[in-house]
Amino acid sequence: MKAVVANDHGAVALTKEIVGHLQDRGIEVDYLGIANEEPVDYPDMARLACEKYLAGGYDFGVVCCGTGIGISISANKIHGIRCALPQNVFAATMAKEHNNANFIAFGGRIEYPQPVSEMLDAYLDAQFCGGRHQRRVDKIMELES
Ligand code: RB5
Repeated sequence: MKAVVANDHGAVALTKEIVGHLQDRGIEVDYLGIANEEPVDYPDMARLACEKYLAGGYDFGVVCCGTGIGISISANKIHGIRCALPQNVFAATMAKEHNNANFIAFGGRIEYPQPVSEMLDAYLDAQFCGGRHQRRVDKIMELES
């Protein structure tokens, strides 16, 4: 598997942990930064990651900012991206099972009830259910046209 990962200055430490966790799972990571706390604009980082993903060769993407909100909103503006911002392990599982999210977002300044590594694992280990969920995902994508 191959992932593209990007963040803003609000999630440097968390993103480093995420990259390490993905690599520990044997996932190849294309890390686009930023690795220091010099301020950058999260829409720019979302665009970088999503455009890379859409160019092909990636299985999923991870984007992080202080809350995960700005970067997930930005990612979801880009056609072809379904970026989930899960609150916990259950939501991370549903992000794949029901929404077939191709991106997942986290907030470096958020206190999650469970470790982000467990939320990531839940997302990665889940399978899209298809069926009625495919119909709903198709309807999400139709909203882009
Ligand atoms: C940057 O200060 C902060 O606004 C950003 O990381 C994010 O939390 C926005 O949603």
